[in-house]
Amino acid sequence: MSDKAILEYQGKKYEFPVIEGTEGELGINIKTLRSEAGMITLDRGYKNTGSCESAITFLNGEEGILRYRGYAIEDLAEKADFLEVAYLLIFGELPNKQQLDKFYGDIKEESEVDEEMKKILDGFPKAAHPMGVLASLTSALTAFNPGSVDVESEEDMYKAIVKILGKFPVLVAWTQRKKSSLPLNYGDDSLGYVENLHKMMFEKPGKKYNVDKSVIEALDKLLILHADHEQNCSASTVRMVGSSHAGLFASISAGISALWGPLHGGANQAVIEMLEGIKADGGDTHKFMQKAKDKDDSFRLMGFGHRVYKNFDPRAKIIKKSADEVLNGLGVEDPVLDIAKGLEKEALEDDYFVKRKLYPNVDFYSGIIYRALGIPVEMFTVMFALGRLPGWIAQWREMRLKKEPIGRPRQIYVGENLREFKPVSER
Ligand code: SDX
Repeated sequence: MSDKAILEYQGKKYEFPVIEGTEGELGINIKTLRSEAGMITLDRGYKNTGSCESAITFLNGEEGILRYRGYAIEDLAEKADFLEVAYLLIFGELPNKQQLDKFYGDIKEESEVDEEMKKILDGFPKAAHPMGVLASLTSALTAFNPGSVDVESEEDMYKAIVKILGKFPVLVAWTQRKKSSLPLNYGDDSLGYVENLHKMMFEKPGKKYNVDKSVIEALDKLLILHADHEQNCSASTVRMVGSSHAGLFASISAGISALWGPLHGGANQAVIEMLEGIKADGGDTHKFMQKAKDKDDSFRLMGFGHRVYKNFDPRAKIIKKSADEVLNGLGVEDPVLDIAKGLEKEALEDDYFVKRKLYPNVDFYSGIIYRALGIPVEMFTVMFALGRLPGWIAQWREMRLKKEPIGRPRQIYVGENLREFKPVSER
């Protein structure tokens, strides 16, 4: 549909094309706004601003819909595995067996990490937050794989993609084992992608590795649910850094840093810390609901609210159900799960939350599962980063293949007008 939007300012009219997406979303293309009207738009936090046209993920925040390349998240979480979802996000189609086998085979070929990288890891204090370690190690991959920087061809992009998909799980595992003072090992690539990660993370020296299949299934599902989420803060960061042609590893490293923040992926760690705090304080959820609503109180209900979802985050629904299943299956009792459910129940009946359409998001229940799976709380956001890796790659690849221009927003200057310099003797 090629419709027009008209802006009228000081008696002059300016026309701009309106584009319609395949799900009926409308956007005003303001490409000529500054050249024609001498104006820019201003939109703090880009709440109403689209940065690109993308075919990867569709969200409908009002209806709580999430689809990867047209497939419903509920179907993918139930029926697919993480590696085939990664293929789907990056290349646009679910792979057949031959394609999936080749993809995993190419990834396994690239799963070695240069031994010199261990020296970088050694340089970190044990108390270092794993997200800072992972961001640094990921950026350091560039130094050991210089050919993967400014890649132009699809073939070279593919090589960079399988490199990071092969090495990232090793970096995740080594980051955790450094904190646990365990030897840095490799897994067994006769295992599946997620089970191999789990083996690298949790295998104990001298002990036979075995794991309940339900643990791997739960982990696989969590990674699928985190795999992409259109133009969220970290994906936009990956696109922005990638738009300067800084290379895939540097772009992913920037995305990891953006995800670290407690308002974004860091919320999954903050949720568990919040729930533990409420438990330690006696478990009075009502008291903390009041604090969350008090503008003078910095307390925020972590894991609640979302920039796009003004209805239930569909991922939160799936994770909440999975939390019950995993904990029951493993025979784990976690009192914070009941506290979480109590907060959710109260919030859904509280005018402050209902009016602001604040619902549990992907981070509200995920930490409860990670904890039941034995993952340390400081590694929760690292697990989010591993899940999001295919999405970041897909966003970077789409941006580079479409030859998007370097990202460079404008501003409205509100500082001092021209003034004369005075030497220090006159100030
Ligand atoms: C992720 O973008 C994505 O897609 C992200 C993500 C992904 O998959 O990539 O889904 C992952 O980051 C999920 C969000 C994780 N963050 C948290 O759980 C942190 C807690 N939530 C908030 O900080 C907040 O809800 C955000 C950051 C998620 C969204 O913030 P917005 O859209 O900028 O909304 P806002 O801060 O302007 O809030 C609107 C109102 C405000 O009140 P008023 O000024 O209107 O009176 O709602 C209030 C806020 O004070 N509010 C909350 C709240 N979240 C919003 N009040 C109490 N507790 C909260 N959690």
